[in-house]
Amino acid sequence: MPRPTADLFASTDDAPVAIATDVRWLRGYVDTAPLLAEIATIAAAAPFRHLQTPNGGRMAVAMTNAGPLGWHSDARGYRYVDRDPQTGRPWPAMPAAFAALAARAAAAAGFAGFEPDCCLVNRYAPGTQLGAHRDYDEHDLGQPIVSVSIGLPAVFLWYGPTRRGPPRRVPVADGDVVVFGGSARLGYHGVRRLAAGADPAAVRHNLTFRRAR
Ligand code: SIN
Ligand code: FE2
Repeated sequence: MPRPTADLFASTDDAPVAIATDVRWLRGYVDTAPLLAEIATIAAAAPFRHLQTPNGGRMAVAMTNAGPLGWHSDARGYRYVDRDPQTGRPWPAMPAAFAALAARAAAAAGFAGFEPDCCLVNRYAPGTQLGAHRDYDEHDLGQPIVSVSIGLPAVFLWYGPTRRGPPRRVPVADGDVVVFGGSARLGYHGVRRLAAGADPAAVRHNLTFRRAR
């Protein structure tokens, strides 16, 4: 019988919560106000945009990047690029606080030595979802993915090795971090359609840190 989400992930202290093997949820891990200020600086140089999918669709989630590499999608496919195709300039630098946060969270989840070279910044408006997918465009799959939730709460969906079957539902809130690596590095995951907050203009941001090269 399915149990309520709260039971599935009940935790008595601030230790990382195991969502699945090699998937950890760090609740209330980071104060997000400084992160939002950094996002505003990044977006001033590399504006949020709705990327084109290889088959001609438009991504519902708005994206930008910071760091030496940025994730990009267009008619030619998914890939990492060292310049913002929209401006022709390098992506904004990865804030030092971002890289430090990613490394600290990865280590707390059991993945020491994480040095991300890409921070993909996602922005979800209410009504936006992210379908089940895997992050496999990175060169070094030995490095984890670190995902930081900012703003409106959401439900992160963990499907695991296949996208069949009901996913684990992880109610991620502002300041939560999810880390997946090792045997879970190529796990399917997504985000359930975002509910509006009390303020209809409120959004959710998400930082995903990757080692692309
Ligand atoms: C992603 O899979 O790239 C984003 C996950 C999230 O927004 O929590
Ligand atoms: Fe992803």
